[in-house]
Amino acid sequence: MGSVDIPRESWATRAGFILAAVGSAVGLGNIWRFPFQVGQEGGAAFLAMYLLFIVAVGFPAMLVEFVVGRYTNRNPVGALKQLGSGVWQYVGWIFIATGFIILSYYSVVAGWTIRYFILGLQNEYLADPEASGGQFLELASGLDAIFFHALFMAIVVAVVAAGIKRGIELAVKVMVPAIIVITVGMAIYAFTLPGAGEAYSYYLSPDFGVIAENWTSILPAAAGQAFFTLSLGMGAMITYASYLDEDRNLAEDGAIIVGFDTSIAFIVGLVVFPILFTAGVDPGDPGAGAIFISLAAAFGDIQFGWLIGAIFFGTVAIAALSSAISLLEVVVSYLIDEKGIDRKVAAVGIGGGLFLLGIPSAWDLVLLDLFDLFADQILLVFGGLMLAILVGWVVSEIALEELSKGIGPLGSYGTVWIWLIRIPVIVVLVVALALGVVEYVDFLTGTEEGQFGWWLEENL
Ligand code: TRP
Repeated sequence: MGSVDIPRESWATRAGFILAAVGSAVGLGNIWRFPFQVGQEGGAAFLAMYLLFIVAVGFPAMLVEFVVGRYTNRNPVGALKQLGSGVWQYVGWIFIATGFIILSYYSVVAGWTIRYFILGLQNEYLADPEASGGQFLELASGLDAIFFHALFMAIVVAVVAAGIKRGIELAVKVMVPAIIVITVGMAIYAFTLPGAGEAYSYYLSPDFGVIAENWTSILPAAAGQAFFTLSLGMGAMITYASYLDEDRNLAEDGAIIVGFDTSIAFIVGLVVFPILFTAGVDPGDPGAGAIFISLAAAFGDIQFGWLIGAIFFGTVAIAALSSAISLLEVVVSYLIDEKGIDRKVAAVGIGGGLFLLGIPSAWDLVLLDLFDLFADQILLVFGGLMLAILVGWVVSEIALEELSKGIGPLGSYGTVWIWLIRIPVIVVLVVALALGVVEYVDFLTGTEEGQFGWWLEENL
């Protein structure tokens, strides 16, 4: 296999790796997916479960991917072949497939953000939430959506084709600070709205009765969201860590990345829910349209809203770009390392395939859900579970030794990390995966509006 002798690329600067990983993590997962998951899963109860998942499962799982990547210096497929041999090489292929599926609809949603950027420049946000909802439905599916999906995909391909240093590092250096400044500013605006009080209690004070009652749907949703938002479960962080050529403190880097990602999602909630409550919209209702409908209505309402909105959606599009890059990079790095294919050829070819696979999602919101739920609650959780088994039980000695490079003797922290992965993380992921499958089957067969069974009845 290892058919390449050209030296492998590596990050240009020390900050490059952290910025790229933050750039990968912070994206539509935080700004688009997080608020609508909170809305659908009942508010603060979901937030509490999600935060627990981030700390107890997400952070240790991120270190798992980091050590695998830095130790092997390979793409996920190569890395797993090297560490696990046998069946593990098939797991690597599942990663590649997962990246492919996620990016196909991710690009559609990112296309919406470009469309909403332009909508701001045209001064066409609608202040009335209902009208804004209608506008979303019109723009989110159909030819409009396909066009902007194609545009976004083309940009992603261009950046990835340019290579690690010139493309990816540069793109993220601007975006991370911009996102933080804008979301914090908007949270302050949202604080002044009349619905803010009610929204805060919905978002921030969990009713544990709700968790007890709905845990079978909250648990897989929180697990899927944690993996999605941290870019875990399909080797993106393996790939990024594989470009590290020095021994950094991975635990510290991981904590910074998780900290940024979680803070941004949390702040976005502080923006979205006050707006929805002020507009009198039930936060569970708008689903995938939540931020577009609510924020566009707010932008339509305030002075210079068109400008703030254009800046906001423009920034989100850039955040989506830096995440999409990491998804495509996984697939492309596999083709470069294992198949010896030229970077540009790989990027363009895969990009074309992704455009086609994304068309159903751009055509109908239910089909987007079909892809999103499958990738999120099943494939990513499965990928995370496989890596936890590999690192926790098969190569734990190597992993501990690798983690200690750049840190020094791990002592009992190492033991805690490995045992956290060996039992609680694995058990939680098995349960989440089982529930995720049940939920997905329910979605496939369900005939309530918005479920796939309903869609089939409507469309066939
Ligand atoms: N984490 C990104 C977001 O929140 C999406 C993403 C990028 C991703 N790379 C990934 C999700 C790898 C899963 C796996 O928008």
